[in-house]
Amino acid sequence: MKILVTGGAGFIGSSFVRYLLRTQPGIEIVNLDLLTYAGNLRNLETVSNDPRYQFVRGDIASSNDVRAVFEGNRIDAVVNFAAETHVDRSIEDASPFIRTNIDGTRCLLQQALQSGVSKFVQISTDEVYGSLGPVGAFTEDSPIDPSSPYSASKAGADLLAMAFHKTYGLPVVITRCSNNYGPCQFPEKLVPVLITNAMDDKPLPIYGDGLNVREWIFADEHSRAVWLALERGKAGEVYNVGSGHEKTNIEVVKEILRLLGKPDSLIKFVKDRPGHDRRYAIDCSKITREWNWSAEVDFARGLAETIEWYRTNQEWIREIKNSAYLSYYDRMYTRRDQTLAWSKQD
Ligand code: NAD
Ligand code: TYD
Repeated sequence: MKILVTGGAGFIGSSFVRYLLRTQPGIEIVNLDLLTYAGNLRNLETVSNDPRYQFVRGDIASSNDVRAVFEGNRIDAVVNFAAETHVDRSIEDASPFIRTNIDGTRCLLQQALQSGVSKFVQISTDEVYGSLGPVGAFTEDSPIDPSSPYSASKAGADLLAMAFHKTYGLPVVITRCSNNYGPCQFPEKLVPVLITNAMDDKPLPIYGDGLNVREWIFADEHSRAVWLALERGKAGEVYNVGSGHEKTNIEVVKEILRLLGKPDSLIKFVKDRPGHDRRYAIDCSKITREWNWSAEVDFARGLAETIEWYRTNQEWIREIKNSAYLSYYDRMYTRRDQTLAWSKQD
């Protein structure tokens, strides 16, 4: 079986590629990735010489790039991880999110339909459901109600993928997972921003009151669920994936500081994110019932493993924290601080 994995050089896509090559001897993988700022072939160094693995640099929103991959390979199934993924960047500029997440997905769906794949797994997110109050959890039947340009673009892709199933019979399966953490996550998302800043004794920016809640899952556990979606998911169905480990952002930052032996005084409250979803929580009883899947890594253990990975991969961090990253950080956080200072003066 030959699988086209898109976005395989990113955080979760690379976890999935490594997971498949480790656990499924009969699988071949073609990884189509544009290598945007978030894509990093270092994440795949351990598998790059595996004869079952092949990398193609290309854009999912380019029909030429996508067609070339399908023409050069007999692709049996597609797993679409490729996306623009950071909420704060989407607030700054939604256009790359619409292009890659919606039009890129359309382009893949069309080619997959033409080539007659046996499964198309669309990797979505719990963020398409919007925000929860203090109780309850998202089920697969919860209404789609996204808050950010990122989550709206992911919701658009989900609707389009399902339309390809309903209209043309393409065997689409959608997974919606909660917040991932683990090795190789780009230091723009909460956990790696906190770990890498704390290691350098830099301030740890926490938006608003720090009481927003996310459900944290170790990325390799997500990969295990995606493989089951590919193997056993029913066409036209959505599957939620979650861990049950709900934490406020304050709890996350304090646990990271504790594990690193750093003081709480590094925490710095900054201006809130506009449209900031208050709480996400996932009901994933469907995949537990149907696939016997459940998360096994508890948060403290997963976090300790993640910190250890960042501690021993300083070179990976150093390469990323280049001038483009520093100007991103300055834009996002220095300006955020200034706005906070201005709002305090008002
Ligand atoms: P990431 O930002 O780390 O990686 C995205 C990858 O996609 C990168 O390798 C990038 O180069 C590639 N890419 C971007 N645009 C592309 C294009 N036009 N063509 C080809 N490749 C392109 O993302 P991630 O955190 O690994 O997320 C992977 C998927 O999982 C996304 O679809 C995301 O919406 C979803 N998801 C993420 C989380 C999370 O917590 N990170 C949770 C649930 C779902
Ligand atoms: P993030 O990792 O961006 O994931 P998402 O917004 O997709 O859930 O953010 C997780 C939570 O952490 C969210 O409530 C926003 C918050 N946050 C901070 O407080 N500080 C930060 O520097 C970042 C990046 C996020």
